[in-house]
Amino acid sequence: MKIFVAGHRGMVGSAVVRALEKRGRDLVLTRSRQELDLTHAVEVEKWFAREKPDQVIDAAARVGGILENSRRPVEFLIENTRIQNNLMESAFRHGCQKFLFLGSSCIYPKHAHQPIREDSLMSGPLESTNDAYALAKIAGVRLAQAYRDEYGKSAISAMPTNLYGPGDNFDPESSHALPGMITKFHRAKMQGEREVVLWGTGSPRREWLHVDNLADGLLVLLEHYDEREIVNLGVGEDLTIKELAEKVMKAVGFAGSIRWDTGKPDGTPRKLLDVSKIRALGWRPTIPIDQGIASTYEWFLKNAPEAKV
Ligand SMILES: NC(=O)c1ccc[n+]([C@@H]2O[C@H](COP(=O)([O-])OP(=O)(O)OC[C@H]3O[C@@H](n4cnc5c(N)ncnc54)[C@H](OP(=O)(O)O)[C@@H]3O)[C@@H](O)[C@H]2O)c1
Repeated sequence: MKIFVAGHRGMVGSAVVRALEKRGRDLVLTRSRQELDLTHAVEVEKWFAREKPDQVIDAAARVGGILENSRRPVEFLIENTRIQNNLMESAFRHGCQKFLFLGSSCIYPKHAHQPIREDSLMSGPLESTNDAYALAKIAGVRLAQAYRDEYGKSAISAMPTNLYGPGDNFDPESSHALPGMITKFHRAKMQGEREVVLWGTGSPRREWLHVDNLADGLLVLLEHYDEREIVNLGVGEDLTIKELAEKVMKAVGFAGSIRWDTGKPDGTPRKLLDVSKIRALGWRPTIPIDQGIASTYEWFLKNAPEAKV
């Protein structure tokens, strides 16, 4: 199989490339943004006409935190719809046999019933801070379904939960909670500080999936799943932000204390995906959270610019 991994330099794309290389039986195609800007329809079309990949995993997107999302809804909507439209259109025009689109758990309604089942999509209002991004992703899910309905194409969509691991964004200004904590505890340890301030009360519950486990799950879907309905990829268990902070603190070796800035917002009290569907396909995560945090911290020390204090 000739498999194109779009967005291979990102956290998810690079994990998918590692998983494919480990499997070792496919020709993996990659292109950096400099080589192929996926928002440029003509360039994308020319590239697919030439390369004709058999399968496409779409891990390319404009991704960002709450602040970036609320500041730049135009870019999040335009770039993400362009990337997914260009990829799907050119891929199927040039013989692609299977297309895997990546959404995100933020496409579900703000007050979705927990754990969140796939069929709760579009059953209520979205979280307003990232609705432009979520709507672009929902359009991608619908486009994949439309390709199945209208042209009988094999397009599927996966909805991962919060991810972490090598290649993550560790900038505390724009990162998710887990990598942001790694940076904060690491800096405090290196600078001999006694206290780290974290946002909120620490009581919201979240689940965290290691990106290497996600990549294995995506390959299971690529090989064994060919239906219209979206599929959640998560751990099926969550923990409080406070519990998470204690784990990160231990892995980093920060011996001070945490002060919770309760004036800052907590966000949704709970966000847990129902994972019965992917479990039924025989996939389950194998990396325990403590082990995942420890190996991510090792990666951070060797590779992340934020590790330098
Ligand atoms: N991270 C999470 O916790 C999470 C959770 C659920 C779902 N997801 C989904 O997983 C996918 C990948 O996320 P990620 O965390 O891996 O993001 P990421 O690290 O920011 O990677 C995104 C990749 O897309 C590429 N890209 C963006 N715009 C492009 C363009 N115009 N042309 C070519 N390449 C472009 C980026 O290239 P550059 O390297 O050049 O910028 C980057 O390699 C997204 O669809 C996201 O919604 C992520």
